Amino acid sequence: MSFVLGTYARKNISFSQGKGSYLYDINGNKYLDFVSGIAVNSLGHCHEHLIKIINEQSKKLWHVSNAFIIPEQERLAKRLTEHTFADFVCFQNSGTEATEASIKIARKYFHEIGKPNKKRIITFKGAFHGRTIAALFAANNPKHTKGFDPIVDGFDQVPFADHETLKKTITDKTAAILVETIQGEGGIKEIPDYCLKGLREICNEKNILLILDEVQCGVGRTGDFFAFEKSGITPDIVPIAKGIGGGFPIGACLLTKKVSIGMKPGTHGSTFGGNPLAMSVGNGVLDIILSDGFLKNVKKISEYFNNELINIKKKYPKIILEIRGRGLLRGLKLAVDNTLFIENLAKNRMLVVKAEEQVIRLLPALIVSKKEIDEQSL
Ligand SMILES: Cc1ncc(COP(=O)(O)O)c(C=O)c1O
Repeated sequence: MSFVLGTYARKNISFSQGKGSYLYDINGNKYLDFVSGIAVNSLGHCHEHLIKIINEQSKKLWHVSNAFIIPEQERLAKRLTEHTFADFVCFQNSGTEATEASIKIARKYFHEIGKPNKKRIITFKGAFHGRTIAALFAANNPKHTKGFDPIVDGFDQVPFADHETLKKTITDKTAAILVETIQGEGGIKEIPDYCLKGLREICNEKNILLILDEVQCGVGRTGDFFAFEKSGITPDIVPIAKGIGGGFPIGACLLTKKVSIGMKPGTHGSTFGGNPLAMSVGNGVLDIILSDGFLKNVKKISEYFNNELINIKKKYPKIILEIRGRGLLRGLKLAVDNTLFIENLAKNRMLVVKAEEQVIRLLPALIVSKKEIDEQSL
C-alpha cells in the first residue's frame, strides 16, 4: 500500500545510490542509466564537483526571499546571458513554470507596446510543455487534458511540420509561436534547421515572438548549449530546466531585452525560484558544461553513440525502424511495443524511457564514456 497519489505508472524498482552513468537498486543491482532522470542528471549521478558545491553552500545559506539581491542568482544569470542570445534570465523551479513564464512574458510584451489584442500562442501537435493547467492546454494532448476542462483558451494548435496550416493559423491576434526545438515526449522529433529559419522569418514578418522550449533538449544535450544554435537563428524567449540543475530543481526563462519591457516588479515571482542553494548548483553545472572542450566532447561521444545505434539497427532491422534525434537525445522508433521493450531492457539492467510513436528515448549523461556506450551495444 502506497500513500503517494497514484499519478505515475511506476516500475517496481527503487534505487539507493548513483554514480556517473550507473544506478544501484536497493538490492545492490547495477543499472546502466540512459534515462538520467529524463535529461536531468546532465553530469551523471553524484558528480564530485556538484557534491563539493552543494556541501559548501549548504553550510553557508540555503534560501532567502527574492525580496533581496541573491549574488549566486546574479552570477548564474550573468553567465547564462554571456553564453547565449539572452539579455535577462528569470528563475523558476521546473520546466513547466519556465514555459508558463515564457507565455506571460510574450503576452505582457504586446500589452506593453500597445497591442493588447495580440495574445494568442501557436503550438504544435505532439508537444509537451509540462503539467500546469496552461502548459497542458498549450500542448493540448487529449491524454493529458481529459477531465481537466474548462479549456484554457489562448492557444491555437497546428500539426507538426505543416507549414501551410501554420501560415493560415496566424492572425493579427497571434503573439507567439511556442515550440520545442526537438520534441521530447512527442517522440524525439526534430525541427529541421530550414524550418527553424522559416519560423524565425514568419515571426519577423508578422511581428510574432519565437519561444523555443529547450527544457529537454537544451543545456548541452545536443552537443551545443542550445539545440537551436546549429540553425543560426535567434529566438526571443527560451525556457530551460532539467539539465541546468543536474538533479537539483531549477527552471529558467531566458529572454531578450526587447521582450523584457513589460516584466516590471510585481509581474512575476516565485518563492523558491533562484534560491542560493539551487543557484550554486546551477553555477556548478555551468562550470563543467562551459569548461574547455566539454561540449566538443559531447559531440564526439554523440557521434560514436549514433554509429553504435546504427549498428544495432542494422542488426535488428525488424525491431528498430528509425533512429531519431541529435547528440545525446536519441529516440529509437520500434516496430514492437515500447513498454515491453523497456521492461526487458530493465531486466537486462539497462534503463531507458518511452516517448510517443513507439519510441524509446536514450538520454545518457553528458559525461557518458565509450565504454558505457559499448555496454548498451552488447
Ligand atoms: C520540452 C519540455 N517542456 C516542459 C517540460 C516540463 O518540465 P517539468 O516537468 O520540469 O515541469 C518538459 C518535461 O519533460 C519538457 O520535456
